[in-house]
Amino acid sequence: MNPTRAEIDFSKLAFNLESIRKHIRISTRKKVMVCGVVKANAYGHGLEPVSQKLVSFGVDYLGVANYDEAIKLRKLIPEAPILVFGTLIHSKLQPEKYVSILQKNNLIATVASLDTAKFLDYYNKDKDSRFKVHIKIDTGMRRIGFDVKGALKNVMQILSLKNIFVEGIFTHFAASESGNKKFAYQQLALFQELLHELKKNGAEFPIVHCANSGGVLDIPDAYFDMVRPGLILYGYYPSSEIKNKIELKPVMNFKSKVTFIKKVKPHTGISYGRKYFTKEDTFIGSIPIGYGDGYWRLLTNKSKVCINKKLYRTVGAITMDWTMIELGKVRKVKVGDDVLLMGSENGINLGADKLAKLVGAIPYEMICSVADRVNRVYLNE
Ligand SMILES: Cc1ncc(COP(=O)(O)O)c(C=O)c1O
Repeated sequence: MNPTRAEIDFSKLAFNLESIRKHIRISTRKKVMVCGVVKANAYGHGLEPVSQKLVSFGVDYLGVANYDEAIKLRKLIPEAPILVFGTLIHSKLQPEKYVSILQKNNLIATVASLDTAKFLDYYNKDKDSRFKVHIKIDTGMRRIGFDVKGALKNVMQILSLKNIFVEGIFTHFAASESGNKKFAYQQLALFQELLHELKKNGAEFPIVHCANSGGVLDIPDAYFDMVRPGLILYGYYPSSEIKNKIELKPVMNFKSKVTFIKKVKPHTGISYGRKYFTKEDTFIGSIPIGYGDGYWRLLTNKSKVCINKKLYRTVGAITMDWTMIELGKVRKVKVGDDVLLMGSENGINLGADKLAKLVGAIPYEMICSVADRVNRVYLNE
């Protein structure tokens, strides 16, 4: 079997969730629900196993990006509320059938336009149950949602529709991960103003939510009734500008094994394009992991890996299926030895945030990149 795998440690997922809950408890006296964000294959960790685990840990909601993810998830998780953050495609083919599938799967839709609200209202033919929705307000992200400026009228109109039930209202921060929270507070103020105006018009909502990871860590005023942490659940801070707020443990260790070792002479070019030349007699180890697995080619000649608690440099271009490392003159590593490429173990930190820095990316990208072909191995189930 291919030795390349992503080890996902559920005890670390539990630890991170508890850290988040503790932080919320000490930041506010209110009861705040948690929507575990599991979109994009649970940030590369595996949609179904992670979601099942989070539900068993008592997470209140699950958040996904689209209806395909939601339907897949619903097959395994019959009960937990699933909120779909993305917009709804207004299927022209069989809209009634489409809406009834979503309704049967008991999904909660994000409504980011009047068209979507009217579409759901019109095509929901289940007279016994209104279609549950959360209204998305754009306070500064400029992605999807009702512009906060004209939102009052739109929201009131949605509330008058008979076949949908507005269970929630939310917004999304554009820069809560920044050290400078000025824009996040401006967004929050606009959202609060809107909620105030809505209340004056008699409109209140069971679930108001706003905070992603940056908001959970730094902006207790944004907690409202529910928070939506993603990245911090998986053990990383959303940026290096936020530090040491809570203790987190990277849930995933991206690992493989040394599967081939060769001795080479000085001035030997390694891998495609001969981007690295050895300086002396040395051993080169080959590891069956490459950009086809989600180990970025941009890491070429930049990253390190850990074998038997010791760090080794990757050398030469990272290829689709292989990465080479320089083992040095004296051979201490054997074929079959375990290699840590991303994550942390035995006090060695090769976190996704560190790797991301090497290639001008963000930790989100590094963990989401772990390819489908990589076997996920779940620990402490
Ligand atoms: C609507 C929404 N809420 C919450 C999150 C979670 O964000 P983070 O991973 O920064 O916590 C995301 C992710 O981008 C999102 O799109």
